[in-house]
Amino acid sequence: MVKVLVHTETRKSQINKNIYGQFSEHLGRCVYEGIWVGEDSPIPNTDGIRNDVIEALKQLKVPVLRWPGGCFADEYHWEDGIGPRENRPRMLNTHWGGVEENNHFGTHEFMRLCELIGAEPYICGNVGSGTVYEMQQWVEYMNNGGQSPMASLRAQNGQEEPWNVKYFGVGNESWGCGGNMRPEYYADLYRRYSTYVRNYSAEPVYKIACGPNTADYHWTEVLMREAHHLMNGLSLHYYTTGTGIWEKKGSATGFTSEEWFTTLKATLYMEELIVKHSAIMDKYDPDKKVGLIIDEWGTWFEVEPGTNPGFLYQQNTVRDALVAGINLNLFHEHSDRVTMTNIAQIVNVLQAMILTEGANMVLTPTYHVFDMYKVHQDAHLLESQYVSPSYKMGDEEIPQLSLSSSVDHEGHIHVSACNLSHADSLNVELDLQGIEDAVVSGQVLVSSDKLDAHNSFDNPAQVAPKELQGITAEKGNVSFTLPAASVAVIKIVPK
Ligand code: AHR
Repeated sequence: MVKVLVHTETRKSQINKNIYGQFSEHLGRCVYEGIWVGEDSPIPNTDGIRNDVIEALKQLKVPVLRWPGGCFADEYHWEDGIGPRENRPRMLNTHWGGVEENNHFGTHEFMRLCELIGAEPYICGNVGSGTVYEMQQWVEYMNNGGQSPMASLRAQNGQEEPWNVKYFGVGNESWGCGGNMRPEYYADLYRRYSTYVRNYSAEPVYKIACGPNTADYHWTEVLMREAHHLMNGLSLHYYTTGTGIWEKKGSATGFTSEEWFTTLKATLYMEELIVKHSAIMDKYDPDKKVGLIIDEWGTWFEVEPGTNPGFLYQQNTVRDALVAGINLNLFHEHSDRVTMTNIAQIVNVLQAMILTEGANMVLTPTYHVFDMYKVHQDAHLLESQYVSPSYKMGDEEIPQLSLSSSVDHEGHIHVSACNLSHADSLNVELDLQGIEDAVVSGQVLVSSDKLDAHNSFDNPAQVAPKELQGITAEKGNVSFTLPAASVAVIKIVPK
């Protein structure tokens, strides 16, 4: 049994709803097929965007959506994606499968998607192969509500009002696919490019600099030293593999309990990354004005057999649900610095929320975690103290419990808890400090009998949230059992 002391009267940082952000790239079947089917498609759609996906994403309350990449962003030329679709030039998507990109999904289509699902757009600009002028014009095109050549062009293309895009990334992975730059060189480029990301309204654009890959602390040091005063956010990218080895990522299904353990251990490494990068940021920005924006995270496994290796299509199991739940709990705990994250990616790519096959769609276990956890969006973090039992595998051990609690604007408390053990259930007792009595309920996502339980097109509801049975409240104590390999969210309404 583990006892958790929840300090319900001490509100810590606010859990920025943008921690629940998503990422959509022109990669494989994410944008094309997954989101965009075109107005003439037999698949029911609104202005070319598939209705089933719109409805599922509305339900998830996606706060912010990153686009068009990823690596694709640094070879994307936005002017190719506006105007009549039949006139748009084609290009080669050199990063992802070498397939032809017809530019049918461009700025207007992306903004329409954001409008339909109620998300803020987060645009990633092209530093790797684009000019300062091109970036400047894109921002003018999207945001200028006054008279100007780009505002007129936008109106000519059917959009009179500016979109007032809030979030703008200046390049992606500039240390890698975005130009293989050194941090000193990119820091100077960031200073230059970001100067021309102009403000056209009272609300300034939130500018996000390309941050480090995983544990590249030197990158963070240089960027913060040279440019922290010109940025609002610094990104961080970290992916979880099934083996802990980048070159051999392991399979999304059919894995062993050892791989289950290794994956969750690799997930917990996110905390060390946040702590160490934040410590460097604190040196230059003690008031925490610059957000740590983890705009790519999630599982990265081998692609499904028989699929294009450049399309990064993978299944999604209860293990992915645990990876999502643990990461989100960590982001809450560090929400004084982590203000936005974007899981990769929203449909059909990597740790997706949704998988599609023709007109069919399935919601993944990761989708269900985002759905269950959305109650934490904009709530205030509460301090939760506990000593977790160990989860052991061979000579290694990690904590068995990952937990986070928050209080929302109605005073309702939510506790999200993950049992990392693949084999053992865990009894949890919450000691709610400052609460005399409460009404409690809970939802749990758990594997059927297999560790790699997942939703397929033949069996789309194999893994779905259920009511958590046996939860009890006695005065300020709430008790429940987390089944092995499960993610739960408990709702506590104080009486
Ligand atoms: O999300 C897939 C890819 O991973 C992105 O395009 C890139 O930024 C990262 O390497």
